[in-house]
Amino acid sequence: MSMNLAIVGYGKMGRMIEQLAPEYGFDVKLKLDVDNNAHQKGLTPENFRDIDVAVEFSVPDAVVGNLLRLAELGVNAVVGTTGWTHELSRVRGAVEKHGTGLVWAPNFSIGMNVFMRLVSEAARLLAAQPEYGAWGWEIHHDAKVDAPSGTMLKLVELMKRAGYDRRVDVASNRAGKMPGTHEIGFDSAADTITLRHQARSRLGFASGALTAARWVVGKKGFYEFSEILFG
Ligand SMILES: NC(=O)c1ccc[n+]([C@@H]2O[C@H](COP(=O)([O-])OP(=O)(O)OC[C@H]3O[C@@H](n4cnc5c(N)ncnc54)[C@H](OP(=O)(O)O)[C@@H]3O)[C@@H](O)[C@H]2O)c1
Repeated sequence: MSMNLAIVGYGKMGRMIEQLAPEYGFDVKLKLDVDNNAHQKGLTPENFRDIDVAVEFSVPDAVVGNLLRLAELGVNAVVGTTGWTHELSRVRGAVEKHGTGLVWAPNFSIGMNVFMRLVSEAARLLAAQPEYGAWGWEIHHDAKVDAPSGTMLKLVELMKRAGYDRRVDVASNRAGKMPGTHEIGFDSAADTITLRHQARSRLGFASGALTAARWVVGKKGFYEFSEILFG
């Protein structure tokens, strides 16, 4: 039986999710964008009556308002929008208060989630080798609003959590149509280690988000995508 999906944020990602949704067993029943959802005006009980889950890929300015309202409506959500992690605990509180389910990730690509594990492990191994300095570099298309990317912020956080407490020098570029490249490097007088993940298109992000959407239907709680992926 197919499930009903709402797309909140109908831009590049929203359109890609719409295209792939049938393969994941979803009917797209509602599409909200800035025109019909300014100040959350589209997030009404009537619009969401038959919705099983919402996928939110909008803009940093709108995402927190959208998520708080979805929780209030009792709607489970998958969130790909970046640039809001400073509000994570407020959104988690709302999800817990209203007993809904939410999965979030700064990057829904399975390859990137594996890359994050590899970066953490490299950081852990080099934490006690002070001759190694570290850098992060990312490039995205010129329409991306936030910099550094949410994924880069996450990578640096994971390095710190792994015990690498020295400086990580981060740089960002915005140009052309790049879907997203992230590089983490370690350098010493003896050698250089370069770890790089290069997204080829938005397909990987949309597939991961729809996998999470299927998983979260009927569930309660606040999850990061990697918890679902790796257990
Ligand atoms: N987690 C991941 O795997 C992943 C992957 C790719 C991208 N992202 C992130 O996802 C977000 C969207 O990316 P994108 O490439 O799809 O950007 P995009 O093409 O700019 O799409 C964002 C859409 O959200 C709309 N919007 C603005 N206010 C809204 C509101 N109140 N309610 C609903 N929609 C609203 C925008 O409308 P207007 O343009 O008309 O204002 C636009 O159509 C960004 O934060 C990006 O960094 C995450």
